[in-house]
Amino acid sequence: MDNPPQNQRILSGMRPTGRLHLGHLHGVLKNWQRLQQGNDCFFFVADWHALTTSYEDPAGIPEATWEMLLDWLAVGIDPERATLFVQSAIKGHAELHLLLAMITPLPWLERVPTFKEQQEQLGDRNLATYGFLGYPLLQSADILIYKADGVPVGEDQLSHLDVTRQLARRFNWLYGREPDHGERVAESLGRMAKKAASRFKGLRSAWQEEGDEAALAEGKALLAEQASLGPEDRERLLGELEGRGIEILPEPEPLLTPESRFPGLDGRKMSKSYGNTVSLREDPEQVRERIRTMPTDPARVRRSDPGTPEKCPVWDFHRIYSDEATRAWAYEGCTTAGIGCVDCKGPVIESVLAEQAPIRERAAELEQNPARVRELVAEGNRRAAEVAEETLTEVRGAMGLGSPEAGGG
Ligand code: TRP
Ligand code: SF4
Repeated sequence: MDNPPQNQRILSGMRPTGRLHLGHLHGVLKNWQRLQQGNDCFFFVADWHALTTSYEDPAGIPEATWEMLLDWLAVGIDPERATLFVQSAIKGHAELHLLLAMITPLPWLERVPTFKEQQEQLGDRNLATYGFLGYPLLQSADILIYKADGVPVGEDQLSHLDVTRQLARRFNWLYGREPDHGERVAESLGRMAKKAASRFKGLRSAWQEEGDEAALAEGKALLAEQASLGPEDRERLLGELEGRGIEILPEPEPLLTPESRFPGLDGRKMSKSYGNTVSLREDPEQVRERIRTMPTDPARVRRSDPGTPEKCPVWDFHRIYSDEATRAWAYEGCTTAGIGCVDCKGPVIESVLAEQAPIRERAAELEQNPARVRELVAEGNRRAAEVAEETLTEVRGAMGLGSPEAGGG
């Protein structure tokens, strides 16, 4: 994503995992910072999603939610530019989840790769639950309720986005047809030569019933050739061919977060589950200590042994944090045994501390003033609820769900 999108509705969520670390900053959060300039961004804490795997032990979720929001604000996710909110505060997500559940074929959920994988990985928990199966469905509700154009996610989430897109299409097909759709299609077809019209019908069923992509392509070409069709006919028939209706719920595009394999203190990817993280607000003394004791090239036993930076986790940090001169100094010093590992780590420590300083400062301010944070989040919740309610009104209407007082029930 070298050219960030502009003027789009962007939405993304994170499960509340508590305090965030440097890997989150260099991956997700820097990307959000970029996107919040020039786009209408919605960022939320997916606390209901946390329940899908932690339903037996939900006690930590509120605190993890709070800490995460504080980190977002501290790194400069700006509530003036982006709407920050908490999923469980917007009940509309649950209503849309329920309504979408009605039209979701089970195999769409059962074949999502994360479903089986996570069940295996988290084998100690019973994840043969309805809520866990519905994880991508709830995520779809999160996205569709804001009519997001773009959804920044990591690669592991792409299969969920596929479900979302399929669901949007299915919803629009089921509920986005004009009341007299059948007649209008017949009329448009009537403007085509008989032979072409019957060919069109054959191609449509080959695509919709058998998923024959060549038939879809041929159908499109056929429509393009029909000089007798006006633009409206053509659009209607194209929808008929593809099996989509009027766009009530737009299909979102995934915006793949640039892959950042931010290194952890042990050379593996930085991840809470490896215990190799430096959190964004970690105490400076603790940061010094953790970097000072991090492992180095195992072959460099004595100070007089030359080392191989490529085999050292500290070198990964130099590559991220050091300017060229410092990198050259470290490389040269390591390979000639000119410097010791403690020397080598010095500039890394200083760079990490310098990066954290403004974050720590802002976080301290916010911690002093929890009422202000609560107000910012309440404001975000209000804005989110407004947009969500607008979409829900349309969705209810499209599905024919009237309110009882209007005589619909
Ligand atoms: N499933 C996402 C994750 O684990 C979190 C999430 C929930 C999300 N709802 C979302 C991300 C909607 C983007 C859009 O990372
Ligand atoms: Fe790693 Fe630096 Fe020590 Fe070389 S000198 S082994 S790069 S810490």
